[in-house]
Amino acid sequence: SWTPGAFVDLTVNELKEKIGEDKVVLGLSGGVDSTVAAVLLHKAIGKNLYCIFVNNGLLRKNEFVDVLDQYKDMGLNVKGVDASARFLKALEGKSDPEEKRKEIGRVFIEVFDDEAHDIEDVKFLAQGTIYPDVIESISVNGPSATIKSHHNVGGLPDFMKLKIVEPLRMLFKDEVRRVGKEMGISPKLLGRHPFPGPGLAIRILGDITAEKVRILQEVDAIFINGLREWELYDKVWQAGAILLPVQSVGVMGDERTYEQVVALRAVESTDGMTADWCNLPYEFLQKTSNTIINRVKGVNRVVYDISSKPPATIEWE
Ligand code: XMP
Repeated sequence: SWTPGAFVDLTVNELKEKIGEDKVVLGLSGGVDSTVAAVLLHKAIGKNLYCIFVNNGLLRKNEFVDVLDQYKDMGLNVKGVDASARFLKALEGKSDPEEKRKEIGRVFIEVFDDEAHDIEDVKFLAQGTIYPDVIESISVNGPSATIKSHHNVGGLPDFMKLKIVEPLRMLFKDEVRRVGKEMGISPKLLGRHPFPGPGLAIRILGDITAEKVRILQEVDAIFINGLREWELYDKVWQAGAILLPVQSVGVMGDERTYEQVVALRAVESTDGMTADWCNLPYEFLQKTSNTIINRVKGVNRVVYDISSKPPATIEWE
């Protein structure tokens, strides 16, 4: 029967044999899959694994620095690339969700390519593709196009003839977590909620500005830290905040204000295909809403999303 220990031993040996003394580049996202793939490869080939972690400026508050530190503590050879300005520039004035996704994908590949070119003689591109990605990608794109630009970081840069390594492509998510645990990756990292590749860009409805990103990062941090403090984080499959493109009236002293509305979303799910909204305690919602409105300038109203998937989706865009 399948055990994580046996999987690690077997895969490390296979990777050693396949890669030999060659160099491998891998895009880390901060998520479970790319992290487990990186640690497996690191076990097999050590310093010949070059990891790249791109800050697209649409990550959670402090996430770039925090996650980069964690990766370094794990002994990974990782280069953090802050390309926030480049992404924000590319997104300027764009409000169509698919256009935003496309721009982010395009800029990511440019940045990743530039970085990969700096690694002399790199032969392989590693990806954290897992079994459900493989299946979904076959059904969407046909069997030849197994590299998914939608969900996974990376994708094969056109002009680089890199061979692909996907050590997790036969695993389901829970098996990936067990393999990660077996290799000593921290439970906090392994238990992280899924987070979309385009990040906060698809949670800011409409066009994106640095100020909107800042507001949403603050709101999101209050919500997520609150879930942790209330020991609700692990009961929730995914959570986040959405910045709505409406202003609503409020009062401040004698004045009427028109400020932003944010929606909070927390769902239970097993695979993201269907999802139910979480029945979070009223007291938690009350405290969270107060904290957000008191602390985040520019927000005067908080709503909680009570829609399930289907027909609603988890994200709003
Ligand atoms: P929806 O909104 O379709 O989301 O119910 C299902 C899961 O997919 C994530 N998601 C994305 N992930 N790029 C990603 O990497 C995307 O463009 C994207 N759109 C949605 C979403 O966060 C949820 O986990």
